[in-house]
Amino acid sequence: MGTVILGTGSSLPKRIMTNKDLETIIDTDDAWIQSRTGIRNRRIGGAGEQTHQLAAAASRKALGMAGLSAEELDLIVVGTISSHMLMPSCACFVQKELGATNAFAYDINAACCGFIYGMDMADKYIRSEHHKKILVIGAETLSGRLNWKDRNTCILFGDGAGAAVFGHTRDKERGVLGSNMHSDGRLWKLLHMHAPPSYNPDLEVADNPGAYIIMEGREVFKYAVKAMEDSVRGLLKQVNISLDSIKLFIPHQANTRILKNVVERLGFPEDRVFVNVPDYGNTSAASVPIALDEANRQGLFSRGDTILLCSFGGGLTWGASLIKW
Ligand code: UT7
Repeated sequence: MGTVILGTGSSLPKRIMTNKDLETIIDTDDAWIQSRTGIRNRRIGGAGEQTHQLAAAASRKALGMAGLSAEELDLIVVGTISSHMLMPSCACFVQKELGATNAFAYDINAACCGFIYGMDMADKYIRSEHHKKILVIGAETLSGRLNWKDRNTCILFGDGAGAAVFGHTRDKERGVLGSNMHSDGRLWKLLHMHAPPSYNPDLEVADNPGAYIIMEGREVFKYAVKAMEDSVRGLLKQVNISLDSIKLFIPHQANTRILKNVVERLGFPEDRVFVNVPDYGNTSAASVPIALDEANRQGLFSRGDTILLCSFGGGLTWGASLIKW
């Protein structure tokens, strides 16, 4: 039994925020942002574009491509750190929006790795023959979790959602070939977000400034490049295939400098790396599934091609997955 992707979808808010728009809010400029990050625009959610609503819109497209109805889903997993409520989960709201009455639903908090962690779980559920049709989503509205006075972070992130429907195959030549997932909680401070203040004064975390992203950019950069390189190399060894056999590399869209560094260190050809970060910025858990959907719809790979996914985020979390389409 193997795990295949039956359909992909993505959804982005209508509003585009340019670097020029940011110049009117904080002390920054388009040239700095482009040279340090490659980002030109990002999407910002508005009314009717909450995390679960973007997630549901992406999911409808993925289900449409898969030719499945929402009732056929067994499980919905959402990778997110920016749902509009802590409880219920974003996944339960998505279940309600879709009418996926036969699915159980829960979220994963793995920051930018939410989708690839979810994909890893879907693969294991499917291989163990517990559940057959699983919807995995990465969805964020981080615009609501940014300190818009902090130019180190607010220029980087954007909103959006991507989804993929996973199913099973008996074809031994296809499916998820392997994955490796990692975390290192000792490095939590480099990229973190507090919870809302506690109503129990004894449990209140000292110096909680509010629930927005705090980051040590330079340190994150260094770890991101090394971790992504190591996880890709480790996975190739584990699965015993070479970089040459990869048709398309879809990395987490953090910024173009990180991607360039990773690709250079791996010695992978840049023209086989999918990049959309200039248009959307870093959409955290949504970045890999949005990119996967766009690459899929652009016909950049077909049946039998091997695709490499890789991500890195707060936690720290990182990992890579290989799938033969
Ligand atoms: O999913 C993973 C999420 N995290 C990331 O992807 C972040 C990884 N880190 C990075 O990509 C880079 O560290 C940044 C793009 C965030 C920053 O680039 P940097 O080259 O590491 O800049 P820096 O933080 O060392 O700052 C250099 C200068 C500073 O000025 P001084 O002290 O040299 O005068 C900053 O104050 O750039 C200044 N600066 C800015 N200037 C204009 C920082 N942010 C901005 C800004 N606009 N938005």
